[in-house]
Amino acid sequence: MEGQRHEVVLASLDTGPHPVPDSFDKIVIGASIRYGRHRKAVFDFIEHHRALLECKPSAFFSVNIVARKPEKCDPHSNPYMRKFLRQTAWRPGQLAVFAGRLDYPHYGAFDRFMIRLIMRITHGPTDTSRSYEFTDWAKVEAFGEAVGKL
Ligand SMILES: Cc1cc2nc3c(=O)[nH]c(=O)nc-3n(C[C@H](O)[C@H](O)[C@H](O)COP(=O)(O)O)c2cc1C
Repeated sequence: MEGQRHEVVLASLDTGPHPVPDSFDKIVIGASIRYGRHRKAVFDFIEHHRALLECKPSAFFSVNIVARKPEKCDPHSNPYMRKFLRQTAWRPGQLAVFAGRLDYPHYGAFDRFMIRLIMRITHGPTDTSRSYEFTDWAKVEAFGEAVGKL
């Protein structure tokens, strides 16, 4: 988006205080999946700012590992995006799903064990000595361009 001469401000919902969204022309919310869910803070933010989100150009993207599978990598087919759309009445102008990163060496013992188990069941990588990046950065780039045109 910065390539399209938009000024972009990044803010985390985990570490407040975050910028007041009404001072921006467009709002993009991105959220990753942890154990089957988008964080509650994402829904709290959306509900708190719903009126504003509905009257400004807005977009949402979800990052998860299930999206590494071609049959689950777009907003219509990704189970977490489908669930997200059932959980909120907000309908952003642009939606995207991106495959994220598996970072086994940086997980604690419990997460490493659980994620490896999930990967074994879903035929994903199980070598915990390394990280795996599944993100299609060209898709991220295309999303940025589409958001720029909203
Ligand atoms: C503790 C943990 C639980 C996760 N649970 C899921 C999950 O249930 N489904 C999924 O598709 N991806 C899952 N992921 C993968 C993340 O969505 C992916 O690694 C993403 O890139 C994480 O981004 P973040 O580190 O910014 O949260 C999980 C990752 C972690 C670390």
